[in-house]
Amino acid sequence: MSAGQPDRLETFIDDVDRLVRSTDDEHELTARTAELLSDLLAEGYRLPPEAAQVAEGRQMTYPLHIAADGSWSMASVVWDVGQRTKVHTHETWGAVGVYSGAELEVRYVKPAVDAPVAPLVPAGEARWEVGQVTVCCTTDDDIHAVVAVGDEPTIGIHVYGADIGSIRRRSYDPATGEYQWFVHGWDSPTSLNRSGPALPAHPR
Ligand SMILES: [Fe+2]
Repeated sequence: MSAGQPDRLETFIDDVDRLVRSTDDEHELTARTAELLSDLLAEGYRLPPEAAQVAEGRQMTYPLHIAADGSWSMASVVWDVGQRTKVHTHETWGAVGVYSGAELEVRYVKPAVDAPVAPLVPAGEARWEVGQVTVCCTTDDDIHAVVAVGDEPTIGIHVYGADIGSIRRRSYDPATGEYQWFVHGWDSPTSLNRSGPALPAHPR
């Protein structure tokens, strides 16, 4: 990424990297990452323009950093107005800061590993505005859908405890509890020129 504020981004990456190597406690990791994200947004950090481009038909997930050992990653996720995800898991911890627009998050209870397939149980909704940070997930509590509800494209800065573009995650039908595994992949500005979505038109 060539523009934006690379020095500030590097500082953030160094801070998260130190944090990730200091503990395995997902609640501590998410709480402290949320603080770092909140500071980043409060300081007026600006993304490089190529990491803020919308696409027709689906949201884009641009890598801002992927740890060499896959232990964590950072993304800008960009939805045009009205775009939404399917109900999905993350299978790791994560925190999200809203950079522009607004995000409606619809949460569900994560079924136990050995639970029979059954309709998902709703766990509430929340609307997140610019500057707000949410802990979207710990491995045991990580099912939601997201809708871009602002008047302008919704962009989130996301930090996850894995290479979120490469790990296997679940996409649910909340009405039945049936799910499918998927690997989301990563986008790049050149993805904008593809003819039609080559990646699942859902989770972030
Ligand atoms: Fe998500």
